[in-house]
Amino acid sequence: MHLHKYEKIWLTFGIGSLILFLAILGFTAFAFGHHPPSELATVDSQNLDKDELFSEPGLKQVGENDYQAVLVAQAFGYNPSTLEIPQGATVEFFVTSADVIHSFTIPGTNVNFMVTPGHVNTATHTFDEAGEILVICNEYCGTGHQFMQMRIEVIP
Ligand code: CUA
Repeated sequence: MHLHKYEKIWLTFGIGSLILFLAILGFTAFAFGHHPPSELATVDSQNLDKDELFSEPGLKQVGENDYQAVLVAQAFGYNPSTLEIPQGATVEFFVTSADVIHSFTIPGTNVNFMVTPGHVNTATHTFDEAGEILVICNEYCGTGHQFMQMRIEVIP
């Protein structure tokens, strides 16, 4: 029968599309699902005091105008709680968590990333304007979440 043939073609096409769709979905999850792009390296969150990078949190000058800022996020604050950064400095942030997932968010900049335990989360920013900046936690992390913050003082 004529109609029957068309139904068969459409049915085959429909199932084929579905399989293709699921295959793409599966591949995407496999390829990108496990590795958010900001996660560069891993770290033992239970032994941060023995870690080369995170055992000494703070600001370190690594070039004429380049700095590394190492921070540990923990409910409900950051260590250190204040950073003094010279105006014009380019700072690469290395942040990890000692407990749950937090965020490191510098309002008004593109620095806004999740801080996951076991990972070294990074971002770089150049501080062109002098002044005080309040860094906040954007990721709900418990009862003290709304108080979790630190200060950056950009010194002229
Ligand atoms: Cu830490 Cu919210």
